[in-house]
Amino acid sequence: MSSGAGTFKFQDVVKRFRAWGDFVGAVPYGSGHINDTFKVTFNMAGAPVHYLLQRINHTIFKDPLAVMDNIVRVTNHVRARLTAEGVGDVTRHSLCVVFTRDAQPCHQDGDGNWWRMYLFVEGAKTYDTIQNEKQAFEAARAYARFQNLLADLPAPRLHETIPDFHNTPIRLKALQSAIATDGCNRAVETRSEIAFVERRAAQCGHLLERHAKGEIPERITHNDTKLNNVMLDEATGKGVCVVDLDTVMPGLALYDFGDMVRSATAAAPEDERDLGKVRMRIEMFEPIARGYLSEARFINPAEREELVFSGRLITLMIGMRFLTDYLQGDVYFKTKRPGQNLDRCRVQFKMVESMEAQADAMERILARA
Ligand SMILES: Nc1ncnc2c1ncn2[C@@H]1O[C@H](COP(=O)(O)OP(=O)(O)O)[C@@H](O)[C@H]1O
Ligand SMILES: [Mg+2]
Repeated sequence: MSSGAGTFKFQDVVKRFRAWGDFVGAVPYGSGHINDTFKVTFNMAGAPVHYLLQRINHTIFKDPLAVMDNIVRVTNHVRARLTAEGVGDVTRHSLCVVFTRDAQPCHQDGDGNWWRMYLFVEGAKTYDTIQNEKQAFEAARAYARFQNLLADLPAPRLHETIPDFHNTPIRLKALQSAIATDGCNRAVETRSEIAFVERRAAQCGHLLERHAKGEIPERITHNDTKLNNVMLDEATGKGVCVVDLDTVMPGLALYDFGDMVRSATAAAPEDERDLGKVRMRIEMFEPIARGYLSEARFINPAEREELVFSGRLITLMIGMRFLTDYLQGDVYFKTKRPGQNLDRCRVQFKMVESMEAQADAMERILARA
């Protein structure tokens, strides 16, 4: 197969890994936007066996070895905890890294691409858009359980693979500098979006201020808590396994909850132009809150107080990132049409307004959950 980053043969890549049997074939798999993902089939002494092979996006993850070090530590710990709890099919409930034949967690090919392999989780799938409240509940529960299982991961601290990923004050500074530079002359047409952020600038540091006061602790967070990063059982619909662990790193638990609220309650696509269709669906917030709180045993009173706020903050922050990219000429987020990043920004800000308007109702749901 050829690609922008060179030419590779699956046979050459897969034979580096401790996957036993004869290589049969590989097909592109899933709908992730970050890595290149393939489902690989081996014939192992007459039985078909699947693996998940990924080419790591090393433009985004500049230090793949640090990413893999985090993933190996996290998945080993989760498996040890599940085993201690007496869970039977542990390898289905946590990603399992298949090491290379020289005992490395990933392999770099002659073109400089980084590859990794996981056991393939069978009988489960991910969904790109949420279809019902049960999925919202199961996804939220799976992410809370994941955080629970990692609450006692021994030191040292995990690598910060993308520094300041969810640091809203730093994202605000980046926006302000893009406004000051205004390299594409787009500040004029985005005046009302800029004003929207200015009115909320004082909120940006709120969680980190409480963290600095010692009220909200640093934990291990997933940082990409979308529905399509949780495998749901094909038969029962129950959460099976949290995947996509590239961004697992130290952070605030509220970042994960907030991003879940942002992504799972959205009523319209991320770049919807008809803002009349954009709203926070409170009917999806309810199962998220219940699913999360049913498992999030680690959560402290300060974190609980900020659950509703965290949804608004993460949504504002993502909107700010789209606005920044628009002002800088669409250099980070891929666009298919002019103005797409501005549309994405407007959708996020409309979601923020919708969450602001429904904040009391959201608090009442949490009080019941
Ligand atoms: N171990 C696995 N077994 C089976 N399917 C998987 C596994 N890991 C990921 N997937 C599927 O592949 C998709 C893409 O993988 P993911 O790691 O999320 O890539 P990306 O970072 O590009 O989003 C997931 O949404 C999921 O459907
Ligand atoms: Mg993914």
